[in-house]
Amino acid sequence: MRHPHCQCDNAPMNTHASHDSIRAVQWHGDRLRLLDQRRLPAEEVWFDSTSAEHVTTAIRDLAVRGAPAIGIAAAWGVVLAARAGQDLPAALATLRAARPTAVNLMWALDRMNRRIAEGADTDALTREAQAIQDEDLAANRHMGELGAALIEPGSHVLTHCNTGSLATAGYGTALGVIRAGVASGHIEQVYAGETRPWQQGARLTMWELVRDGIPARLIADSAASHLLKDGKVKWVIVGADRIAANGDTANKIGTYQLAIAARHHGVKFMVVAPSTTVDMATAHGDDIEIELRDAAELLSMSGTRTVIEGADAWNPVFDVTPAALIDAIVTERGVILKPDETQMRTLFP
Ligand code: MRU
Repeated sequence: MRHPHCQCDNAPMNTHASHDSIRAVQWHGDRLRLLDQRRLPAEEVWFDSTSAEHVTTAIRDLAVRGAPAIGIAAAWGVVLAARAGQDLPAALATLRAARPTAVNLMWALDRMNRRIAEGADTDALTREAQAIQDEDLAANRHMGELGAALIEPGSHVLTHCNTGSLATAGYGTALGVIRAGVASGHIEQVYAGETRPWQQGARLTMWELVRDGIPARLIADSAASHLLKDGKVKWVIVGADRIAANGDTANKIGTYQLAIAARHHGVKFMVVAPSTTVDMATAHGDDIEIELRDAAELLSMSGTRTVIEGADAWNPVFDVTPAALIDAIVTERGVILKPDETQMRTLFP
């Protein structure tokens, strides 16, 4: 039998392959091919970026989004700038300004910049960008195993935003734990919050989970506390855009209220992120810049105005969950239970 959504025949259940079939950021030798996340799930449209400026626009306009994915795309943007013989410091500065909160963007550009400073040529920069992409996939697979091991067999879990293959090199962070947990029988049922206003949960996470045959139910964001109250959901599992030195974690808007509700109902709260999301130079969550996006994203749905003309809106797209509300931070370097600065500094010296 041909598995409907992966390239393999007789795809076995309970393996990584059967729960992981998407690669949304692809290098094609002289161009970066991106799956346009603004169009999902209605259409699977791919487009090619051939310049750093185009990659910057794709990041800013959320054609490619998710902390690790934007870092990877930016690294390829540097390669495109080098191939075009552009002024590299200027290209790096343009890419860096695309979005402010996810530190993976700055991390990837700093890593590419170190190679540039060492005199790397275009081929060497290409190898570096590929290494960044490959390391992310490997980290996700490892975190999947580490995170799934924390979950009791047969659990229900709730996730927020999209942290899967679309948001990373592949497999995903929180969604990687969910993939591994489903494969190992630790997770029986997944709930995904729709993630207003951009609908990453409804449009993207549900797209990934349904394609991969994972039992998933969408909930309105406002249904989360009611869901957590009945005791079946054992873990809320989310990704991160930046983790400060004390464990405070910036992630998609709405994460903080989930953490409060989880603590109130005795549900555990897990953050899953690669070390590239950890920012030991930022002491506290209060020091993380929170991206404010256009109010128009809240005032319309799918291009149709839903709020009275003349209305204003406030649209912060990330919030910070204090470390005290987090039960586990899972990274590819290991798991930190009840995170604090001492444990963070031990794992990230
Ligand atoms: O605005 P987005 O869609 O880029 O926000 C994405 C998130 O907040 C994700 O939870 C985070 O980047 C982790 S992705 C592995």
